[in-house]
Amino acid sequence: MKDLLRLRTSLTEEIETLLNEQIKVEAHSSSVYLAMSSWCNRNGFDNSADYFQKQSGEEREHMLKLFGFINDMGGRAISPEVTNIPQEFESFRAVFETALQQEIYVTQQFNRIADRCFKAKDFMSFQFIQWFLKEQIEEEYIARRALELFDVIGEEGTGRWEIDKQVPKIKYEN
Ligand code: FEO
Repeated sequence: MKDLLRLRTSLTEEIETLLNEQIKVEAHSSSVYLAMSSWCNRNGFDNSADYFQKQSGEEREHMLKLFGFINDMGGRAISPEVTNIPQEFESFRAVFETALQQEIYVTQQFNRIADRCFKAKDFMSFQFIQWFLKEQIEEEYIARRALELFDVIGEEGTGRWEIDKQVPKIKYEN
């Protein structure tokens, strides 16, 4: 029965599993960003709260893009369970450190998927993944620049207030 089902799709079980795992990663990222948004809101950083809410929406879109691809290819996209979302963060800076680490992790995961697609000669999935790899350049850039604001502006006095003001202004131009 399992083999019969595979006849309906050129996705191998391995690639389908990897893509479903990535759906989970994106859903997790979306929820973590939402938790960051709430933390920022509670602590008076309104602009950052909006920024993380927007990021959360983007991660959900990434998740849906993967979800749609698996189903369009005749595979079985799995609606993810999301657990272990941190609700508290040590500091304003720690929120941005976590965000950058999260983006670097996502990049590593996509590199891993691209590598597996290439080795499996699944060039359709390999091509599909390229969009995400390009997107990660921007995602990492913005997360890195946001974190750098802490050193450039400094946190003393009205520093955090100023950082919060600058966060939504970061733009990636390529
Ligand atoms: Fe979907 Fe921010 O990576």
